[in-house]
Amino acid sequence: MGKIVIAIDGYSGCGKSSTAKAVAKDLGYTYIDSGAMYRAATLYFLENYLNPANPRDVTKGLKNLEITFHPNPDTQKQETYLNGLNVENEIRSMRVSEKVSELAKVKEIRAELVAQQQRLGKKKGVVMDGRDIGSVVFPEAELKVFMTADLETRAYRRQQELLEKGDLVDLDQIQKNLAERDRIDSSRAESPLIKMEDAVEIDTSHLSFEAQVAQIVHLAQQKIETQKDYAGNHR
Ligand code: CDP
Ligand code: CDP
Repeated sequence: MGKIVIAIDGYSGCGKSSTAKAVAKDLGYTYIDSGAMYRAATLYFLENYLNPANPRDVTKGLKNLEITFHPNPDTQKQETYLNGLNVENEIRSMRVSEKVSELAKVKEIRAELVAQQQRLGKKKGVVMDGRDIGSVVFPEAELKVFMTADLETRAYRRQQELLEKGDLVDLDQIQKNLAERDRIDSSRAESPLIKMEDAVEIDTSHLSFEAQVAQIVHLAQQKIETQKDYAGNHR
């Protein structure tokens, strides 16, 4: 009773997934990384020399693509699997980042992944982050957040993240990739990234990670309370 859906959308690298993960943990909800699904699909297309702009390749790719999430036995963190193989690290590489937004423009691919995302969130109690969660995947989400941060901050944070994995990538290359993905994601015909009118905007440029998590958990608790009141008054 009283479980809600939390949709977090926004630009690349502003803190959506790490924040969503921490919010889910705090509330005892399930975290679902919709971007990981587009990334895993991109990896599959790259490895099988399929072109997302070619409709025949898209049909072939979608038929053979199985994306699942399983917890890591040591850390309990959800990790992404592509046709039974753990691809959590590979899907974060620049090779995938540089191609993912082209694949994410394709209507048929979006339709398939959106249907899977909706199934995963059917029972509520989920925090999902992406670009179209509040607008297309869960337009009825009880809490919608739109995250932003300035480009330099986002690029620096992403560089640190890659560095922790032993991947040294030039700041300029990261910044260009983030800006290019923002451009494609915001201007595409299919489900472009937009800020919904009912979304709460949070600029994380000058916020601590803990502060942004606390802010969203607080908003979520208010919504959960409202749900309870509503259920109580209508018994
Ligand atoms: O973590 P980062 O912000 O770099 O990206 P992501 O959330 O992993 O998403 C990678 C790409 O997938 C985005 O740049 C979009 O092109 C696409 N995407 C999308 O179109 N719709 C979503 N719901 C999630 C991701
Ligand atoms: O999902 P998205 O691409 O929007 O961002 P992310 O993958 O969560 O990456 C954001 C990175 O910035 C993570 O390493 C966070 O720990 C870090 N960070 C943040 O999200 N917010 C802050 N206020 C400070 C750092």
